[in-house]
Amino acid sequence: MALYLAGIRRFPRLLWLTGAAVLQFALIGCESTPPQLTPEQELIVEGREIFFNETFDGNGRTCGTCHRAENNFTIDAAFIATLPDDDALFVAEFQPDLGANFENPRLMRQFGLILENLDGFSDLENVFTQRGVPHTLGLRASVDSPAGPRTGWSGDGAPLDGSLRAFSVGAVIQHFTLTLNRVPGVDFRLPTEEELDALEAFQFALGRQQDLNLPLELKGSVPRRGQEIFLDDSLGKCNICHRNAGANATLGGQDGGNANFNTGVEDLVDQPIDQIGELVPPDDGFGVPGDGTFNTPPLVEAADTGPFFHNNSIETIEGSVAFYNGDAFNNSPSGQFLASIDPNGVGIHLEATQVVAVAAFLRVINALENIRASVQLIEGGIGKRFALFGDLDEQIRIAAFEIEDAVMVLQGAGLHPEAVAHLEHAGRLADKARRSIFRKKRLAKQALRALANAEEQLTNS
Ligand code: HEC
Ligand code: HEC
Repeated sequence: MALYLAGIRRFPRLLWLTGAAVLQFALIGCESTPPQLTPEQELIVEGREIFFNETFDGNGRTCGTCHRAENNFTIDAAFIATLPDDDALFVAEFQPDLGANFENPRLMRQFGLILENLDGFSDLENVFTQRGVPHTLGLRASVDSPAGPRTGWSGDGAPLDGSLRAFSVGAVIQHFTLTLNRVPGVDFRLPTEEELDALEAFQFALGRQQDLNLPLELKGSVPRRGQEIFLDDSLGKCNICHRNAGANATLGGQDGGNANFNTGVEDLVDQPIDQIGELVPPDDGFGVPGDGTFNTPPLVEAADTGPFFHNNSIETIEGSVAFYNGDAFNNSPSGQFLASIDPNGVGIHLEATQVVAVAAFLRVINALENIRASVQLIEGGIGKRFALFGDLDEQIRIAAFEIEDAVMVLQGAGLHPEAVAHLEHAGRLADKARRSIFRKKRLAKQALRALANAEEQLTNS
């Protein structure tokens, strides 16, 4: 070091100054690597901070308590089991004021269910529902209907104008309160107008920004057949309500937007929750009093975000496709309607092989979405596009969860082993990139190549 400094001291003064200037320039260059954010991107970043960190002076929960970035912006029993007992999700277990009529800890831990007072707070003991946590991905393509915005499982989750922006107000009152009095300014503070704008911008930025354009050129024969059945309006009939495997319906040839239907999920017999003797009133769906309808969720994101339906009543994606075969659906208003326009009077009937094929299709489009999302995340990390989650490490951390999910949904049905091998390789590279100091970007780029190889196994498009 001394020698080195001595060497520098012997540099002619001019050269030394030039060197320092170059060094300084280089450092400034490094510091300014993150590109200038647009005002919209700044709002999204602000929304991200609020979503994950803001407790609104309430019981300690944030939006991220239930909508976890590590878990596709939702939670389920398996994920809940990994949380420490003092996690704010469990406030009902350690905060005496919230001990009764706020959550049912048993149902939360066993089935991932959350208590919601969608029909008002006037009779907390008797008027409530227990619902799964929907992911908040792809909202850009799944909120609009001709009758106005539709959020939450029954489409009426938001107060005021029903918009995604207003949803946060209802979520704070429902989930963030310190006591069951729910007095704004005492039990929590309401979000400001600017916070609502920011939260909305962040949520709209999550996941897919548009619907797929089916059919895709899929490589596997079973998922390809599943796609045909899904799209066949006289066989699977799925595309009528879940157009392009999204959340929008086509009704009488018209775009029905993100529509509501009564598909009979409430009438399923032998639901897991029925077996443990907890009192849960029937969920009456949209409106007060409810009309029994629920809002159509998108399916591209479904396979890795089970359990399924508003009450988490079905654990597997195969089971949720098979639901459409059963009496609960076929006797429901929607099943009866489909039967009334079917030449043979059938609602939906699929053989077991067809159920598995449709589920395989849903698994493959989910894996493709995982790949799309992880590529975007990694590209954001290496400065090729806006980084939704901030720095490279965080972008890669979230990407790694997406890659893991792709492996899980394919492996879960023995689909595309070669793609799985590429995905596992991509996952290892992403982990290495996070741990590496000097080769971060290079490893991240290698992960991108492995992801491209995986995608090539799944589709020609
Ligand atoms: C205690 C868990 C919990 C917390 C905390 C929570 N949510 Fe939710 N979230 C849910 C549940 C349960 C639903 C389903 C509600 C319904 O069906 O109306 C939901 C639904 C949603 C939806 C509707 C998604 C869709 O597909 O229509 C959005 C958007 C949302 N939450 C955003 C938020 C925001 C923003 C916050 C923070 C202000 C938040 N949530 C806090 C549990 C939670
Ligand atoms: C009449 C409209 C309609 C038809 C036809 C329809 N669905 Fe649905 N789907 C819905 C609605 C509404 C829900 C939400 C129901 C609830 O939670 O109570 C839903 C939920 C689902 C879910 C659960 C998603 C989640 O995230 O929990 C899956 C999976 C699904 N549908 C797949 C299919 C498949 C596969 C077909 C074709 C065999 C199909 N649907 C046909 C309206 C429909």
